[in-house]
Amino acid sequence: MLLAYSDDGPGPVVVLLHGFPLSREMWLAQRTTIGARYRVIAPDLRGHGESPDVQGISTMDGMADDVIDTLNALQLTQPVVIGGLSMGGYVALSLVERYPERVRGLILMNSRAQADPPQTAQVREDLAQLVESQGSPEPVVSSMMPKLFSPLTAQRRPEILGQLQAIMMANRPTGIAAALRGMAVRPDRTASLGRISVPTLIVAGADDGLIPMAESESLARAIPGARLVVIPDAGHLAPVENPADTNRALEEFLDTLA
Ligand code: MLT
Repeated sequence: MLLAYSDDGPGPVVVLLHGFPLSREMWLAQRTTIGARYRVIAPDLRGHGESPDVQGISTMDGMADDVIDTLNALQLTQPVVIGGLSMGGYVALSLVERYPERVRGLILMNSRAQADPPQTAQVREDLAQLVESQGSPEPVVSSMMPKLFSPLTAQRRPEILGQLQAIMMANRPTGIAAALRGMAVRPDRTASLGRISVPTLIVAGADDGLIPMAESESLARAIPGARLVVIPDAGHLAPVENPADTNRALEEFLDTLA
């Protein structure tokens, strides 16, 4: 499937994959800053933003295939840097495992390699059914909003919460339900982490309420040579909550690949 995307800047390509239930709109601060020296391509994953909607189930592998289709359509067949936040990180892990020849660097932000435990998968199915029956992303948005941000973001930059809520609410309920079901069946990729052979950066939010710091630390330990950077004053959405420190970490990493 061909995805909608933004394409900013000159230089080596960095593909940024958004989290759930967001869209490429979440990368505005990266597109403007990192896009000054790198070509930042940010797609809307299937069922999100302006990309085609989907019924049923959006697997992480299917989303990864869409990214490859879109890069092929752009004639970008050389390896690129792939970065993903949370669900985007699940897709990035699928890409590096299944298309290693297309990846020259990996950035996993606020993400993990494990599959869902059964109770989480059940919560996702319940939420998917609610979203479908109400015909609105609202049940997912209200369940996620309290978990996404550092307390400091809510205090110092409350406008960010409204902006992110609007991005989530603009998504279609079918796409949201399909992604919930896709995340619920994603494979555990822990065993393949040791085979990742490209430079890797792990970004963690110091106050991430969804990904405990111990998980980011073990992710960094499991990938050969991976570096972990902890972003202060940030929860689950480090690139949005603290773009200055996140961009610095990303640019330092990208510069080592140049
Ligand atoms: C995300 O930010 O993409 C979600 O928190 C991922 C998830 O629900 O596992």
